[in-house]
Amino acid sequence: MKAFLDTYTPPKMNGDFVGKPIVTVEQFTRCDLDQIFATTERIKAGVRRGEQWIHNLCANKIMATLFFEASTRTDLSFQAAMSRLGGRWIGASNGISFSSLYKGESIADTVRAVGCYADAIILRHPAEGASYQAAYYLDMLADKIGHKAVLVSGGDGIGEHPTQALLDLFTIEDAKGGLDNLQIALVGDLKFGRTVHSLAKLIAIYGGENITLTFVSPESLAMPTKVLTFLDGHGINYRQTDNLLDVLSKSDIIYWTRVQEERFENPAEYQAIRNNFIMTPDLLEQAKPDMCLLHPLPRKHEMGTEADQDILDRDPRTCYFHQMENGMFVRMALLAKALGVISL
Ligand code: NCD
Repeated sequence: MKAFLDTYTPPKMNGDFVGKPIVTVEQFTRCDLDQIFATTERIKAGVRRGEQWIHNLCANKIMATLFFEASTRTDLSFQAAMSRLGGRWIGASNGISFSSLYKGESIADTVRAVGCYADAIILRHPAEGASYQAAYYLDMLADKIGHKAVLVSGGDGIGEHPTQALLDLFTIEDAKGGLDNLQIALVGDLKFGRTVHSLAKLIAIYGGENITLTFVSPESLAMPTKVLTFLDGHGINYRQTDNLLDVLSKSDIIYWTRVQEERFENPAEYQAIRNNFIMTPDLLEQAKPDMCLLHPLPRKHEMGTEADQDILDRDPRTCYFHQMENGMFVRMALLAKALGVISL
């Protein structure tokens, strides 16, 4: 599937999202991001006020979820997003493990089957490039039957997680009003964590004056070179370190991540670094009073014990509940835009 990363070029949005797949943040420009965030704000305010027009937007649309990996937030927030837009969603009713894929069907065929029934497909798959492959085959299907289902990645192996990065950036923008003069630290598993790959690139695309991006990880879990090359191409300042204490007290945004245990081929390698960065109330004490702590979730021991987490959760600096809620609103905006039912 990785081959599709080279052979399928996803279309740039350039202000027009209709019918286009969403597989990488590289498809967006700063203008696109401004548009998505403005639509998200409008939808968020409308939902809060109970405005009916929102519920009419996707009245005749169907979204399908195809999740070949575990998910709580991405899957359910997309379902909630489509429901709140007045549309419906479908998924394999016995669970994906009873779909024909397990009779040996290819992902290309599964996706095209679903593409015949739905207007949007949310795909999460463990193999990097699967979302590119799916988008490629949906284009092919559209040529054949004249109906184009929009493919949205809900996480592409260890590659990218574009909609997560959009909700992360929306939450940062909401908290800080932009990225100018911010010191942003991404901490933890930067090698296998797809959310940080997308977020680092999206920060570079969004841009701003005097942004400092610091990648904090053990050397063995450093940010992949292809992400760094992208950042170089966008002229954004970054540095890499394994010294958390050095950045903790200076950062305005700290994006904490889980070590992606399931991606390690050798369990001993996971054991060796699993306890490298653990957030605790004591550590949080050292952060700025207006720092914003983000986490894509789910969290495990990297956010301390349950008792620690309870303390962290009550701290006004922790923003992961905002992230979760914003996720639904951002995904509403993306679905409405991709399906061409909103002009905001
Ligand atoms: C993330 C993912 O699936 O990449 N979860 C999410 O979508 N919020 C992060 C993770 O699993 O650690």
